[in-house]
Amino acid sequence: EYGAASELDPASLIWEDERHYRVHTRAYTDQAVFDAEMERIFARVWVFVGHDSEIPNPGDYKTAYIGTQPVIVTRADDGAVHVLVNRCVHRGAVIAREARGTVRDFTCPYHGWVFALDGKLLAVSERNDSGGYAPDFDVPEGLHRVPRVDSYRGLIFACLDPDAVDLDTYLGRAKKTIDRKFGRSPVGRIAVRGKPFVMRYQGNWKFQVENIVDAYHFLHTHKGFVALQAKYGETTGDYGAHKGGSAKAMRQVRFKGSSWALRHGHAQLENSGTANPDELLSGPHREYYEALRDIHGPDEFPFVVGRMSGTIFPNLGLIHQQIRTWRPIAPDVTEVTIYLYDLVDAPKEFNDGWMRSQERFYGPAGHGMADDVDIFARNQQGLAGSAVEWLLLERGLQTDEKLANGDTKGLPASEAPQRALWQAWKQLMAQR
Ligand code: FES
Ligand code: FE
Repeated sequence: EYGAASELDPASLIWEDERHYRVHTRAYTDQAVFDAEMERIFARVWVFVGHDSEIPNPGDYKTAYIGTQPVIVTRADDGAVHVLVNRCVHRGAVIAREARGTVRDFTCPYHGWVFALDGKLLAVSERNDSGGYAPDFDVPEGLHRVPRVDSYRGLIFACLDPDAVDLDTYLGRAKKTIDRKFGRSPVGRIAVRGKPFVMRYQGNWKFQVENIVDAYHFLHTHKGFVALQAKYGETTGDYGAHKGGSAKAMRQVRFKGSSWALRHGHAQLENSGTANPDELLSGPHREYYEALRDIHGPDEFPFVVGRMSGTIFPNLGLIHQQIRTWRPIAPDVTEVTIYLYDLVDAPKEFNDGWMRSQERFYGPAGHGMADDVDIFARNQQGLAGSAVEWLLLERGLQTDEKLANGDTKGLPASEAPQRALWQAWKQLMAQR
């Protein structure tokens, strides 16, 4: 039995040798594990907090979380982005509660202290009134600033650990995932569209990390969707660039590329198999695709337009034409936020088409998201008992190719991406 988080031995929760890769049930269910994850993972690594296009102008802000820690991401008057701990220095009230907004400054709703966009304390309300503060009252500087803030291609990350490696090193090859995703815009930029879609599920946060790069589940978890698509032939977007309409076409949904386990827990499903570049170059958006081919060159082009999804550990997913982030609330409660985005300067009908395609799969009216969160809840339910201890993550273990730079390349539906998560998890959790 584990007691406090400090007594936890994470190595005992992963069983790994030549032929085995197993994860202990408790890694998903135990409160002590969850507490340790907040301290040893979320407080130590770069965490995704937002995209530039959400806060384009001075005064714009958005709220986010670093693990269970609420933060505010602001754009100050000089254009600089700050990530502030969303907690009043007086008695701790959350300062900003809206998902997004525009302000001149922040007034705490509890006793009215006022803070600037960079967190500086501007005013202590009723400071000199009777019963107020002594003249030598030690005025706090302001909201706590998250010490490290950096961005890559508009994606804003923050890190609570001043000694962490720089963002560039942390992202490593995962930058390629981002480059290819955003490279579908002729100018290499995306713009978040409207407000995000937020939902919660009754399961551990790591199910979402694993599932975004799980090529194995698609035809099974989403078989109802697959059958519908096969019947009505609406195979668009990521789920088949070909004109479908048959079971055979839908079988092409099977991944043909490769799976990647990258350093620092990032992972990627890379596939140039579904989108046939020649077909795209003679299809309805020909000029747009030609421009992309010229920008990226013929070798890179199939990867840019091919179906691809990736996770940036611990809380960012890039899939379809969306940014997805999730936050752990409890061992068995997770909140997922989905931002749909437009590819800047791509044809309007093209962007609109992707939106429609995502509506069919995600969101309240979609098939896919409902399938997935039902599975996450089932997983958590299945793990509630203690009769069986271990889970198997061994698919592809024999065929994975370990590269010299520390990355691993696997067959399309290898569980290498899931093992990437657990490798990073184990390493981080071992550090006190
Ligand atoms: Fe914010 Fe008192 S808690 S002003
Ligand atoms: Fe799914």
